[in-house]
Amino acid sequence: MHADAARSGPRADKTLVDQEVPFRADELFFSRTDTRGVIRAFNPVFARVGGYSAEELVGAPHKLVRHPEMPKGVFWLMWEGLKRGHSVGAYVKNRAKDGRFYWVFAVVSPVDGGYLSVRLKPTSALFTTVKEVYARALGRERERSLTPEQSAAAIEADLIDAGFANYGVFQIEALRREHASREGARKRAVTPALAASGHLFDVKREIEQELRVLCVNLKEAELITTNMKIQACKLKSDRGPINEIAKNYEMMMRDIRNHPRVIQTLRDDQGTWDVADEAKSVFMIAVADLMEEMVTFFTQEAERENHLGATAEMEVVAGLRDRYRIEADRAMQDGYRAVRQLSADAEMIRRMVTGLAMVRVVLRVEAGILRERLSGLQSILGQLDRFHDEVSAALERVQDAVTSLMRDRSLAA
Ligand SMILES: Cc1cc2nc3c(=O)[nH]c(=O)nc-3n(C[C@H](O)[C@H](O)[C@H](O)COP(=O)(O)O)c2cc1C
Repeated sequence: MHADAARSGPRADKTLVDQEVPFRADELFFSRTDTRGVIRAFNPVFARVGGYSAEELVGAPHKLVRHPEMPKGVFWLMWEGLKRGHSVGAYVKNRAKDGRFYWVFAVVSPVDGGYLSVRLKPTSALFTTVKEVYARALGRERERSLTPEQSAAAIEADLIDAGFANYGVFQIEALRREHASREGARKRAVTPALAASGHLFDVKREIEQELRVLCVNLKEAELITTNMKIQACKLKSDRGPINEIAKNYEMMMRDIRNHPRVIQTLRDDQGTWDVADEAKSVFMIAVADLMEEMVTFFTQEAERENHLGATAEMEVVAGLRDRYRIEADRAMQDGYRAVRQLSADAEMIRRMVTGLAMVRVVLRVEAGILRERLSGLQSILGQLDRFHDEVSAALERVQDAVTSLMRDRSLAA
């Protein structure tokens, strides 16, 4: 069957063989296309694993290696990102000429006159999740005859369910994990720049998470003020002071939650490609590192296998690497600035909460006076104590995270 498939030419035969084409984790695939996705250049690994000759590859559309089990929605996302000028990362199952398959994690980037793709072997745990997402997507496409765009939206929704804010964030996390897994398997550490941007990315996410929890706490604490007012009602004509305290509390909490800086911090990522600076820098540094490796790998491969035209191709790859290094640097600076701003936001919240704590002292005094008549106030005070403890602990965690980040940064500088 393999021999038949090989003889019948690349496009005619769509036989599938449920067997994987082996390749090593240190091997990288390279291809460059024009703006329509027609292959213009490739490296020996791409030809060998796909089972195609140079004549079959050059001038053929890249969908030559398309596997029928790949959901259309993934390619829709890929082209959508490319058209917007982004580099796009995606897991892709490809079909070799003899019908066997191979999986890659592809990073496709716009370059002068078209696009180029560098692909590596996926090995991270995320890959398993993605295969399930793709299987569901393929099922949906076949059963409900979805358009590629509809399928893309459903795939993104699945990835959001899996914990990623959008496709843009997913592809960054995927590249980061694949890169780390591959370097780990090769007993190598990720570069210091990638480690630093990863730390920045994690810290920013942690702070945002803390601030989000804080706002939930503030919202819940508004219930406490309602309870205070209920208690005050029992006092009939003496309810004045407690009512005032409750109103003050409510107002101050609302001021914190509605503060423009807090609202901006908690704004969710919106569209498919909406990602924060520090996440962009992780992606760009990882892509730059990958391009760097691609240059070395292809140069050695070309010398060994007498592959023509490698030097010119590698100049394009090196250009992309340099561009990303510069952009990543800028994104890192913006990311650090954003963390410093978040740290200032946390400090601002801390001051506002300190104001609240003062009101709590007044309430405690009132509660003392009214001890006999209003036992319910004691439990309200207990709730307030818990609320203040939680808020202080969250703000402390924020400052600890910022301190550790800045310490690492000064060590790296
Ligand atoms: C640089 C570049 C690399 C690509 N690599 C692949 C690939 O490895 N496998 C693949 O199926 N499609 C790849 N594509 C996308 C194909 O051009 C095509 O959109 C896809 O195979 C879906 O084809 P279809 O829309 O006709 O179904 C690549 C596109 C570009 C621009």
